[in-house]
Amino acid sequence: MKLLLGVPALAVAVYVFAATLPEAPTGFDNKTNGMVDDATHAADQERFDEVEGVTEGLGPLYNAQSCRECHQNPTSGGASQISELRVGHRGPGGKFQNPEISIARGTEIIKARSLVNDRAICPNSAFPSAEIQERVPDSEKIRTFRVSVSLLGDGFVEAVPDQTFVDLAREQCQNSHHKICGQVLYVPIVEAPGQTGVGRFGWKDQHASLLSFSADAYLNEMGVTSRLQPDEVTALCNTAPEPNDKTDADGLSDVDRFARFMRATEAPPRDAQLAVTPKARQGAELFNKVGCDQCHVQTLTTAPAGTQVNGGTVTISAALAEKQFHPYGDFLLHDVGTGDGVVQSMTEHYGKRMYQISWKNLSIRDYESTANKMRTAPLWGVRMRSRLMHDGASVTLLEAILRHRGEAARVTRKFERLKSSEKEALLEFLRSL
Ligand code: HEC
Ligand code: HEC
Repeated sequence: MKLLLGVPALAVAVYVFAATLPEAPTGFDNKTNGMVDDATHAADQERFDEVEGVTEGLGPLYNAQSCRECHQNPTSGGASQISELRVGHRGPGGKFQNPEISIARGTEIIKARSLVNDRAICPNSAFPSAEIQERVPDSEKIRTFRVSVSLLGDGFVEAVPDQTFVDLAREQCQNSHHKICGQVLYVPIVEAPGQTGVGRFGWKDQHASLLSFSADAYLNEMGVTSRLQPDEVTALCNTAPEPNDKTDADGLSDVDRFARFMRATEAPPRDAQLAVTPKARQGAELFNKVGCDQCHVQTLTTAPAGTQVNGGTVTISAALAEKQFHPYGDFLLHDVGTGDGVVQSMTEHYGKRMYQISWKNLSIRDYESTANKMRTAPLWGVRMRSRLMHDGASVTLLEAILRHRGEAARVTRKFERLKSSEKEALLEFLRSL
């Protein structure tokens, strides 16, 4: 279909090339994709699953005690129903502003983050009068939930060269006559000061590196500081020495192990029984025919072995190199009419010290233009999700599709015009992913 519509020769060449590359391994069986041995992977997973307590540095403000608590379905690294809360308001010129949340009876103001932590370790027996629970002030009229996502197979996503996303955005925009133009966002690689990469992780593409994401999540979801995120959100009722995350006998700290765990995961597998049914196959064709695949791109390929990514801090190993995988996503930011108005906070994601460094290609203006955009949700493993879209507010696949407006409006209209048996086939295809 696409070929008939005159996709440039380069895209055809890439497609043919991709078809000859080996497939990334898939499975919900806790096995490694080959980047490390199974014993190492199991040990890394133990850290990812580990429940942290106050003495290990949990909090003072936090959302949950372990990575697995939010990334679990159907196995460690998957998604879950748990959502987090983000708020803010519009300031001068209509720009998004982070909230100022007062804690400890107004004696401290938490600033520069849109995340509102749902839990706190105090009051407790050591600090019986420390009232540090965050609550949303009435002034914060922009509110959204962000549901947890799966990170299985993300090592392959990290191994896609930046240029692939830049080319994808350009071709998509040309082929759709400027109706669908995904945004590439350059984001800091926290472990490579000054270096940036094309953001691909999180609902807003706020990270390009799984190590950067690990340190961000450890601090903001669990309150655990690390060498990459050494500053606590508040010093109140905090006792564990910084950074909380210490190096072990192997010279690795928890954030290194989380990153290695994620990099070594297999990609989500299809439902093999459903995938081969005539109905799901018809649905796959219709998915492309109505144009869902313009954003939900079926196949991406990883860089050759030895390629350096993440500002030169990671060298792509043979297990991840030159594989094709099927995320059904372009990892670009789009306005599909669901935008929550939130611009990701620099300090929250890259640390209080990020302003001491000048970052290549970093553009505050580009960040601001993302307020009403979301990353195309990759649809691999979508059958394991009970709540859909960034806010988890769509509970059926049909509702999620019908919410697509903005850049996706024409595609949604085409979907709406399908016969009901065709719509059902397309949904069956999604249930096989
Ligand atoms: C309280 C729930 C919660 C906990 C605990 C949590 N996460 Fe997450 N995680 C989320 C949510 C929600 C998102 C989407 C966030 C967003 O983009 O705003 C996410 C996104 C991610 C992503 C992006 C994946 C992708 O493909 O986009 C990675 C990687 C990740 N988390 C790693 C971790 C690690 C490592 C830990 C433990 C240190 C952790 N998370 C702990 C809720 C959680
Ligand atoms: C212009 C790009 C674009 C097009 C075209 C598009 N989508 Fe999406 N899709 C997105 C974005 C962006 C999101 C995330 C939106 C959000 O969370 O608010 C999304 C989310 C979804 C989700 C929710 C997945 C989850 O994990 O929550 C489903 C299902 C989905 N799309 C299916 C489709 C289908 C089917 C079509 C074709 C009829 C389609 N999309 C067309 C960009 C697109």
